[in-house]
Amino acid sequence: MKAKIKYWIRDAMRPLIIRPYPNAGGMDYVDPKKKSNFVGKIVLAAALTALCILMLKQSSTFRSPSPFSQRDTGVTHVLVTGGAGYIGSHAALRLLKDSHRVTIVDNLSRGNIGAVRVLETLFPQHGRLQFIYADLGDAKAVNKIFSENAFDAVIHFAAVAYVGESTLDPLKYYHNITSNTLVVLEAMAAHGVQTLIYSSTCATYGEPEKMPITEQTPQLPINPYGKAKKMSEDIILDFHKNSDMAVMILRYFNVIGSDPEGRLGEAPRPELREHGRISGACFDAARGITPGLKVRGTDYKTADGTCIRDYIDVSDLVDAHVRALEKAKPGKVGIYNVGTGKGRSVNEFVEACKKATGVEIKVDFLPRRPGDYAEVFSDPTKIRDELNWTARYTNLQESLEIAWRWQKSHRDGYGSPS
Ligand SMILES: NC(=O)c1ccc[n+]([C@@H]2O[C@H](COP(=O)([O-])OP(=O)(O)OC[C@H]3O[C@@H](n4cnc5c(N)ncnc54)[C@H](O)[C@@H]3O)[C@@H](O)[C@H]2O)c1
Repeated sequence: MKAKIKYWIRDAMRPLIIRPYPNAGGMDYVDPKKKSNFVGKIVLAAALTALCILMLKQSSTFRSPSPFSQRDTGVTHVLVTGGAGYIGSHAALRLLKDSHRVTIVDNLSRGNIGAVRVLETLFPQHGRLQFIYADLGDAKAVNKIFSENAFDAVIHFAAVAYVGESTLDPLKYYHNITSNTLVVLEAMAAHGVQTLIYSSTCATYGEPEKMPITEQTPQLPINPYGKAKKMSEDIILDFHKNSDMAVMILRYFNVIGSDPEGRLGEAPRPELREHGRISGACFDAARGITPGLKVRGTDYKTADGTCIRDYIDVSDLVDAHVRALEKAKPGKVGIYNVGTGKGRSVNEFVEACKKATGVEIKVDFLPRRPGDYAEVFSDPTKIRDELNWTARYTNLQESLEIAWRWQKSHRDGYGSPS
């Protein structure tokens, strides 16, 4: 068969010569063999042309431009850094639901590709969602991403985010949080991206004497995580003095809960468990993954001796980002606390978790953890007045019940990352 094709091509390539047939009384006569040769040539030429078109179509120069590289009227293209993580994935879901175009950039150091796959399944349409695997510490890669995509706004979630870990490995935190924010900001400036929503934290306030915390409360962070975030804020604010960028800095309090429809959840790396947040620790204890819950510090100057925190549901938090995006104005900076305004003790939290899971979680009381502060809760007046935002999911037990449903049905989180 191969040989036949070879000869057919060779014959077809031979120049077509039409000669008078010697025994045909001087009449011109076309040899039928030669005639089929001619047809073969045409077929071959057509096949080669089709092949060329196909190859050109595959090549990037010929391909129609990606929708992510174009600006479309009425479509806001948001770069969500850290979109494979807990808060970033929930934010991406909401942005997609609100008809935005989303690009997630994540190095999967902490997040889950499984969360991205869930989003891709929910929004498979061309031009809605793309995932780019990249490290924000790689300025060259970041610049390439900005040069190939037409972003309208950036929500910069990507960060390492554990207070305890930051006290053990401070340089990692300054590098990942402060230095990477600089990379993102420089890329935004270089490529004319005009809106930034920055994920900051109540850890930038440290341990203020006066509660609740307002945006005017002095920022005196006491651990490298809070300091690195405060430095990032300062960089953004200094840059903003000579820029027309629209900037919103959101200082979150303690984030809990998950998507009420059960599509996404919180699934930190198992190796980060020891640094983990209280909700994850409660669920791990309830599922028997850990023998019990360790409450660190019972001698704080609070009503029951345990720390007091302001727990904000992730759905409310994401809503605050959407409001911030809507209200961001060129040349203006908005700084907002995102919390419920109500402090709950760790003991209260544990009781709510026991009720939400239905498990009598074993609790061990241990000495304080370095870098922790006694009492932190927000005054959310400013965000209510200026962005018309108020927390709606304020029932701790209900938020934990929602999160627990996802945890129970995802014993292995999103599965192993690939
Ligand atoms: N969870 C909270 O209670 C809380 C509270 C206050 C502020 N924050 C802030 O919210 C943001 C998101 O936190 P989260 O709880 O979703 O954390 P997370 O660990 O679940 O998500 C962070 C994501 O960023 C990615 N990432 C980290 N470094 C990166 C890098 N160099 N390049 C690319 N991607 C990188 C991780 O892979 C991960 O997907 C962080 O900035 C954090 O500081 C969180």
